[in-house]
Amino acid sequence: MKKVKSVFVCQNCGFQSPKWAGRCPHCGEWSTMIEEIETSGTEDLSFPPAKPILYKDVRQAQQQRLQIKIGELNRVLGGGLVLGSLVLIGGEPGIGKSTLLLQVSRDFAEEGKKVLYVSSEESLEQTKMRGERLGIGKGELYLLAETNLEKIISHALELKPQVFILDSVQTVFSSSLSSSTGTISQVREVTNQVFRFAKKNNICSFLVGHITKEGSLAGPKSLEHMVDVVLYFEGERDHSHRILRAFKNRFGPVSEIAVFNMESTGLKAISNPSAFFLKERPEGESGSVAVCTIKGSRPLLAEIQALVSSTLFVGNPRRMTIGLDHYRTAMLLAVIEKKLGFGFGGQDVHMNVAGGLFIREPAADLGILAALVSCIKNKPVPLDLTLLGEIGLSGEVRSVSQTLARIKEAASLGFKSVVLPKGNLPELNKKSINNIDLIGVRNIKETVDVLF
Ligand SMILES: Nc1ncnc2c1ncn2[C@@H]1O[C@H](COP(=O)(O)OP(=O)(O)OP(=O)(O)O)[C@@H](O)[C@H]1O
Ligand SMILES: [Mg+2]
Ligand SMILES: [Zn+2]
Repeated sequence: MKKVKSVFVCQNCGFQSPKWAGRCPHCGEWSTMIEEIETSGTEDLSFPPAKPILYKDVRQAQQQRLQIKIGELNRVLGGGLVLGSLVLIGGEPGIGKSTLLLQVSRDFAEEGKKVLYVSSEESLEQTKMRGERLGIGKGELYLLAETNLEKIISHALELKPQVFILDSVQTVFSSSLSSSTGTISQVREVTNQVFRFAKKNNICSFLVGHITKEGSLAGPKSLEHMVDVVLYFEGERDHSHRILRAFKNRFGPVSEIAVFNMESTGLKAISNPSAFFLKERPEGESGSVAVCTIKGSRPLLAEIQALVSSTLFVGNPRRMTIGLDHYRTAMLLAVIEKKLGFGFGGQDVHMNVAGGLFIREPAADLGILAALVSCIKNKPVPLDLTLLGEIGLSGEVRSVSQTLARIKEAASLGFKSVVLPKGNLPELNKKSINNIDLIGVRNIKETVDVLF
């Protein structure tokens, strides 16, 4: 049935061509085109031959979900694990991917579900050692140490688990390809086969993917479109907390995050991330501001820090941002220069979001501005004050969405005042938020007058 032919596949971006090239015509990388035996053919095991069907005759999918005991993970998935879905968990080496999935396996097994955990990079003994730390008890949790995908799937078909975990996609190979383990085409083929296996048998499946130095899953981005959900596990080496982020979700909102702490008994969810991200805020220091951002379905308070100092690089001062959009910050600097008359020409500007968070929302603009101005004036912003608002190019402060949720989150953490766009005031029902002061502002000039 299968016709075998050879193709050249770029190992960087996955581009395929029938002819060899020294340089990939798609991504421009040199010496990345490698010959591989590709099986082509239209046979598809998972779906019956398709023909057009009237919309009203299509059966409505029953989106059944398994509830994961780790509530935070449930939420990141959009309210549980959809039956037959394939979830990819990516992260740097040692971040805790195996730990999280073994915990998930443990919980499902304890609830009486059958789980198959395939470890293709660690021995059964190694996995068991981790399992002992996590306190794996009773239940039908099966382990398999195997690297051949076809063998793995045949075991899985025989065992018929409700949850299937493959750790990791880069260390398994399919014998239908001659290229070596971990190459783009192997990783894609493995993902493709697991996807079809999950769909056909309605089994919730997880794939672990390692992130390469460049910060992408091997086979840069080439797996993301092939799976239902992509979660990224992030964290800094010197911190014990980890952030799990939904990057793509066919069954729920993205940009949802969960925060965990790595402990000897496994990953523990941090139930109040806002308090967690603010807990080390310096008191009485200039340049530090709390903002209330929205992550997925919930508000989250975070600390933005600014440092403005004279530059050693006259004519080319530094603009460094960690956790903020670089271009947006540059734009805000220009607006502040123009409208407030501060000069950043001879100044290096460093901005940071504490705790490894990333804030893309324009609603954080006013917070960024306050942090910068606070630093320049060397005057602290009160610890119990937070700001929200988008800044336009004329220095106007524009309304933001989900104001009430943000204000309530701030109030629940003991904030006493919120500086916000005047345009947002009418929609707010003062009664439900009577323990917090709302200060409406129209532009950045007013904001600075209110603050300092
Ligand atoms: N006894 C322990 N106490 C606390 N943390 C531990 C302990 N043992 C291991 N860890 C943590 O677990 C992390 C490794 O977790 P895990 O093996 O789940 O990561 P991974 O993402 O699967 O890594 P890999 O890339 O090797 O597969 C280590 O970085 C360490 O921080
Ligand atoms: Mg691992
Ligand atoms: Zn390429």
